[in-house]
Amino acid sequence: MAITWTNDMTPSTRFWDKAARKYAASKIKDQAAYEKTLERTTEHLGPEDHVLELGAGTGSTALLLAKNVKSFLSTDFAPGMIEIANEKLAADRNSGVAHEGLSFLTADAFDERVQLSDEQGAGYDAILAFNFFHLVENPDDLLARVRDLLKPGGLYISKTVCLKDRAWLFGPMIKVMQLFGKAPYVSMFSFEDVEDKIRSAGFEIIETGTYPEPRSRFVVARKV
Ligand SMILES: C[S@@+](CC[C@H](N)C(=O)[O-])C[C@H]1O[C@@H](n2cnc3c(N)ncnc32)[C@H](O)[C@@H]1O
Repeated sequence: MAITWTNDMTPSTRFWDKAARKYAASKIKDQAAYEKTLERTTEHLGPEDHVLELGAGTGSTALLLAKNVKSFLSTDFAPGMIEIANEKLAADRNSGVAHEGLSFLTADAFDERVQLSDEQGAGYDAILAFNFFHLVENPDDLLARVRDLLKPGGLYISKTVCLKDRAWLFGPMIKVMQLFGKAPYVSMFSFEDVEDKIRSAGFEIIETGTYPEPRSRFVVARKV
């Protein structure tokens, strides 16, 4: 199916939308680090949990994690990414391995449709965001929204690429690429920047890790 670009797409949305098929075909660079991320995340999830994922890409992580929880809404603002995620979900359904609580939606965090219904509870038990936070243009607003969407004591589980120590290299390179539509919006965070922002948004950090080394910071934070 052809991807329809709309005028309200930002350059970043267009970048990711266009990149979707290539992204889907790319291999995980560090399988051990990915598995560690899945393992640590699963440890914090329970069978009655309602989970939201932001910036899901083509849904690979959602397809692996959804079986551990009651409902799993996996979202991404790029229609092309969600189109592929739905293709994978359909294939899993055909093979009888799909979890019925899993669904995909083209949406960002501020979309009303990501709100948990009153019947489902007072907010999400967990919100997941892997390789995502450094790509968001309004990180403080995003964290405020994540906090609103979580139930009291709910968890924000994230993994963020932190490029600040190489900003001298990546900064100018990404700026030039952005001029040609070849790079999305990217923030150059340090681990401390990410963790400070999460704390300032009203969370306590209960776990951190670096998978893979040296720049992907895994953080589990509880809404206080
Ligand atoms: C690097 S990919 C990561 C995908 C997946 N989470 C993973 O770990 O492989 C980043 C994804 O975030 C999405 N994205 C970027 N900014 C976004 C935003 N503001 N709201 C929703 N999705 C966004 C992109 O479309 C892309 O699919």
